[in-house]
Amino acid sequence: MKITFLGHAGFLLEGETTILVDPFITGNPVATVKPEDLSADLILVSHGHGDHLGDAVTIAKNCGATIVSVFEIANYCSQQGVQAHPMHIGGSNHFGPVKVKLTPAWHGSGLPADDGKMQYMGNPCGFIFTLDGKTIYHSGDTGLFGDMELIGRLHPIDLALLPIGDNFTMGPEDALEAVKLIKPNIVIPMHYNTWPLIAQDPQEFKKDVEKETPAHVVILQPGESYEL
Ligand code: NI
Ligand code: MN
Repeated sequence: MKITFLGHAGFLLEGETTILVDPFITGNPVATVKPEDLSADLILVSHGHGDHLGDAVTIAKNCGATIVSVFEIANYCSQQGVQAHPMHIGGSNHFGPVKVKLTPAWHGSGLPADDGKMQYMGNPCGFIFTLDGKTIYHSGDTGLFGDMELIGRLHPIDLALLPIGDNFTMGPEDALEAVKLIKPNIVIPMHYNTWPLIAQDPQEFKKDVEKETPAHVVILQPGESYEL
């Protein structure tokens, strides 16, 4: 399958079916595509922050994709007039050839509403999903947690997409610990260098991970692809 990094936490995975994860394009200073260029069968949304929910509703309206997320976000998306499938943490479901399972993520989830109050968007999550016989883990925005060991033990991970930006999520040191717990074959770092606040050197992260674990780190610039 072909995996294209959309910048920040956004990925397009093209295999037996097409999956978008956290398609944040509008307002993303490192984006290389337009929302109307993107289409998918499934759109996975990890939590209700603007840099993850992003353009999911617009893209789903354009291409008829189904948004898969926690109940609260799926409900919000349904109200916007798009197809959405509600799930919750620990649950899995099949969508055609793809199996999706929701994992915990230590983060927040809310959208500022028109009245200035925060609209609650449920628990944030990560995703384990299978595509073309490979198992992929997109952690969402999260801090390090010990149950990542369980995720890796129960679902041998071919590819882990992990944040390294710090401030809002794991930084590179905790992401290295995450790799030791998850034991994926390949890691693609995400959620860094979108803004100065989350500036990181992914080459340093790659060096440390490849020195201390058997995992291989693939660094993608926004718009670049990797064949898994
Ligand atoms: Ni967030
Ligand atoms: Mn974020």
